[in-house]
Amino acid sequence: SKPRILVARVIFPEVIAKLEQHFEVEHNQADEAWPRERLLAKLQGKAGVFTTGGERIDGELLAACPSLKIAANMAVGFNNFDLPAMTAAGVLGTNTPDVLTETTADFGFALLMATARRVTESEHYLRAGKWQKWAYDMFAGSDVHGSTLGILGMGRIGQGIARRGAHGFGMKVIYHNRSRLPAEQEAACKARYVSKEELLRTADHLVLVLPYSAQSHHAIAAAELAQMKPTANLINIARGGIVDDAALAQALRDKRIAAAGLDVYEGEPKLHPDLLTVPNVVLTPHIASATVPTRKAMAQLAADNLIGFLVHGKPLTPLNPDVLQRT
Ligand code: GLV
Ligand code: GLV
Repeated sequence: SKPRILVARVIFPEVIAKLEQHFEVEHNQADEAWPRERLLAKLQGKAGVFTTGGERIDGELLAACPSLKIAANMAVGFNNFDLPAMTAAGVLGTNTPDVLTETTADFGFALLMATARRVTESEHYLRAGKWQKWAYDMFAGSDVHGSTLGILGMGRIGQGIARRGAHGFGMKVIYHNRSRLPAEQEAACKARYVSKEELLRTADHLVLVLPYSAQSHHAIAAAELAQMKPTANLINIARGGIVDDAALAQALRDKRIAAAGLDVYEGEPKLHPDLLTVPNVVLTPHIASATVPTRKAMAQLAADNLIGFLVHGKPLTPLNPDVLQRT
């Protein structure tokens, strides 16, 4: 008989159809957010689970679901996985790298430009019927071309943003990362490695693209915001929790930095209430990878990881390949 899997949220019907060729599939057609207990109950007897970034796969869940062999995340980030616990339990985790890199880098730039040029703030003004006359300083923002682009976290997406800035907008690109890029990769995106302090002090636009971990928790908090230029913009397309949102809201209110563009939040889909009332912030609901082709590619890759591993013993993008040696 076919292995049984659970798809935790509604996804493309064609992806469900593909999974059904290989598995007995239970899926969340109603798309209510399953409470934890319900998820644990649904996982009984399942060999695999298709997750979308919100479902926490940790030691408690693994102990309660001994049949589980793989969790395939439809996201490049995997901070919903306790990977050491999964490895200890012999459960494989997979993510969806590469397929979303350029789309997500595009969005980083969209948010950067919308923030620098006050696109949403001015639209709210217009929609509210407040536009009566021209004014010399109306929604005057900051320049993108020729400015200094700072990138914290220089993975594939960070490099994609760096290339756009350097080649498309003539920006000076500086970055900080746990490790320095090889020289040819730095050259390809014309990026210069600097300390975190120099990054904070000199960036006109600071884009956060680092993975969330205990080490990157509140990487940008009050002390870091205080080091930034008062004219600087902060863009977060990484993960909630990398920025201390309360400190950011305060810095925006006090105009200690010019503006922020945020796609991710601590405790999302809830937001720190002050972020909703400061004007100089562009807010989007975690959509950086959301284009139709890329979301399809991500869903296909997550499905192919389930099929690759449970049917052929070969996942495409394993996060903890140690598990493969043991099975
Ligand atoms: C989205 O945030 C992802 O990690 O893919
Ligand atoms: C992270 O995996 C990235 O691609 O930046």
